[in-house]
Amino acid sequence: MIYLDNNATTPLDPAVAEKMSQFIKEHFGNPSSLYPIGRKVKEIITEAREVIAKSIGALRTEIIFTSSGTEADNFAIRGTLDALPEKNEIITSAIEHPAIMNTAAYLEKKGVKVTYVPVDEYGTVDLDYLKKAITPQTAIISIMQANNELGTIQPIEKISKIAKERGVLVHTDAVQAFGKMDVNVNKLGVDLLSLSAHKIYGPKGVGALYIRKGTDIWPFIYGGHQEREMRAGTENTVGIAGFAEAVRVMTERKDKDKKRIAKLAEQLKKGIEEKIPQVKFNGHETNRMIGTLNFSFYGLEAEAILLALATKEIYVSTGSACSEGAEEVSHVLEAIGLRPEVARSSIRMSLGRFNTEEDAKTVLEVLPEIVNRLREISALDIDED
Ligand SMILES: Cc1ncc(COP(=O)(O)O)c(C=O)c1O
Repeated sequence: MIYLDNNATTPLDPAVAEKMSQFIKEHFGNPSSLYPIGRKVKEIITEAREVIAKSIGALRTEIIFTSSGTEADNFAIRGTLDALPEKNEIITSAIEHPAIMNTAAYLEKKGVKVTYVPVDEYGTVDLDYLKKAITPQTAIISIMQANNELGTIQPIEKISKIAKERGVLVHTDAVQAFGKMDVNVNKLGVDLLSLSAHKIYGPKGVGALYIRKGTDIWPFIYGGHQEREMRAGTENTVGIAGFAEAVRVMTERKDKDKKRIAKLAEQLKKGIEEKIPQVKFNGHETNRMIGTLNFSFYGLEAEAILLALATKEIYVSTGSACSEGAEEVSHVLEAIGLRPEVARSSIRMSLGRFNTEEDAKTVLEVLPEIVNRLREISALDIDED
């Protein structure tokens, strides 16, 4: 199998799997219990919080564990709006993940004004537009650090500076950026930041929200005393233990992984551009997180390519996994100005820790053949921009 969908999810790192299976066998205690088996689990959670906080330059007390990146995104926006009842506007971008897009749509129904900042052809947000959109009613700006479909990196430091001058909070969804580039809350200057374990070779169903000390925010789930009463519910203890181990491995391998994945992705990109005619690379050439490649194959339906590759056990995606089947055209590709038929011909390949040179070589043998064959039988016109 050649897995090229690491932006959708990553395989569990063996060290993480080992840590989790050990944990689940040894620790069943409730971290809220005062006797030793509970206290031990509490201690493990505290250590996990420390590891995760340190990896993004935060304090331990600034990390709240959640059930996912999606929950962290919901919490950041809804929690801060709850705490600022005198404000009823938010700003986000046109290319956010559905976790933000659908939260914004829900808030619009409740009477909140949402501004969706447009992006240029590479997927970079328009800072002038953003600046002009801020009003005294703006509670929070939420812009992702890097985009899941294109990999394009956003100028978060600049956005934070603009927001700070106007007294507006900044949230960034760093779910994709984490592990692929530097994520540091102080360099970024953000007040809130979302993370998810399953994009960094950790378990699914656990994430975290960074909340800068002093940020006015209301709890997201009401109940017991867990997570400083901000997010009640008995903790996903094994998930949290796995999350911290994934961060530990990531920190240890960071530079080595980044260099190798970047090199592999560039090999693959160059090979595709050389071997396949009439392709369009989507996203920024340089200002892009490592490992993400998005190509349009003129005249084809992406789904046909995906299925043909799948018969060879090569797994890629057509747009973000969460929107698979849910929408015809990716809102991200639409926002960068692709015509619907070009957007529908787009494939995302996202490389990760376990991909090899052999994988890239195989894809470069198989993909051109598939594209050629499909083009021969395709009824669609090849209509380049
Ligand atoms: C940018 C971004 N934000 C949020 C999420 C959602 O994270 P989770 O799957 O942990 O809910 C994803 C996952 O695809 C993502 O890519």
